[in-house]
Amino acid sequence: MTKKLLFLLDTDPAPSVFDTVVGYDGGADHVIGYGGVTQENVGALVDGTIFTRGPKEKQFTAIFVGGSSMTAGEALFAAVTKRFFANFRVSLMLDSNGSNTTAAAGVALLAKAKALARKKAVVLAGTGPVGMRAAAMLHSEGAEVAITSRSKQRADAASNAIKDRFGFAPAPIEAVDNEARAAAVKGAQIVFAAGAIGIPLLDEKHWQDNAAIELIADCNAQPPLGIGGIEAIDKAKERHGKIVIGALGLGGLKLKLHRACIGQLFEGSDQLFDAENIYAQAKALA
Ligand SMILES: NC(=O)c1ccc[n+]([C@@H]2O[C@H](COP(=O)([O-])OP(=O)(O)OC[C@H]3O[C@@H](n4cnc5c(N)ncnc54)[C@H](OP(=O)(O)O)[C@@H]3O)[C@@H](O)[C@H]2O)c1
Repeated sequence: MTKKLLFLLDTDPAPSVFDTVVGYDGGADHVIGYGGVTQENVGALVDGTIFTRGPKEKQFTAIFVGGSSMTAGEALFAAVTKRFFANFRVSLMLDSNGSNTTAAAGVALLAKAKALARKKAVVLAGTGPVGMRAAAMLHSEGAEVAITSRSKQRADAASNAIKDRFGFAPAPIEAVDNEARAAAVKGAQIVFAAGAIGIPLLDEKHWQDNAAIELIADCNAQPPLGIGGIEAIDKAKERHGKIVIGALGLGGLKLKLHRACIGQLFEGSDQLFDAENIYAQAKALA
């Protein structure tokens, strides 16, 4: 049997342990991680995947692009695809910091709970990989999207990067602390918290009496949670009249989706998994 080899190309110095484990759980026989991979040095790594196996075995080699920077991941993903030609290609997935799979799970569960079209959505701390992808997925559902950052400059940069990739620019909002983020969600129906691990973004008092808010999702599983007054295990739970999804509530679907995509990488040699088709799968699984 030809071994299923998953090459984990990470833009960070050390390849992600999380992505390595899920690579095995998704069906790879071996996960080989490389850190510090850039668009400049990836060429030889890609060549090693496309020139080594014949047409019938090539589908058992695949590439996963990860790392903590969405823009670096997108650039690496583009550089890998640029190296492919004719049938000299392998299947490829982009999921920097779990961006696509986590955002897809969160937004798909929100969309399952209620229609998102024409609603105002604010992605709190929307400058990281998960927040940037969540903004795009919320937009694809017809929501009017804004992202917050502690810095206007980073909010602008993330908004521009989202525009470059998806053709729409979420409104960039500077919100330096929980009070400012509470002001930013005034009038919004959807709050999607995508802050760094262990960072609280909004207290319970900031949302419990906000009559406009209908849906809340929080990606941060490590206490203190991103949204005060919810539980990480909440999955479409009603709190203060709002439907709430915590990080573990969406984490089950995220892992299922991540594993499913890894498994599908080995079903052909021409699959490209990124935001659009990963989100479509999340909706089907949700
Ligand atoms: N539930 C799951 O299954 C799952 C899976 C993967 C990831 N996650 C979680 O998803 C979340 C987002 O991941 P990510 O990789 O996109 O996050 P990230 O890049 O580490 O951080 C996102 C943003 O958080 C903001 N931030 C950082 N420190 C802060 C602070 N002290 N106060 C306020 N804001 C701060 C930053 O925005 P500014 O500097 O622009 O303000 C940053 O761009 C994380 O909590 C991660 O653990 C969950």
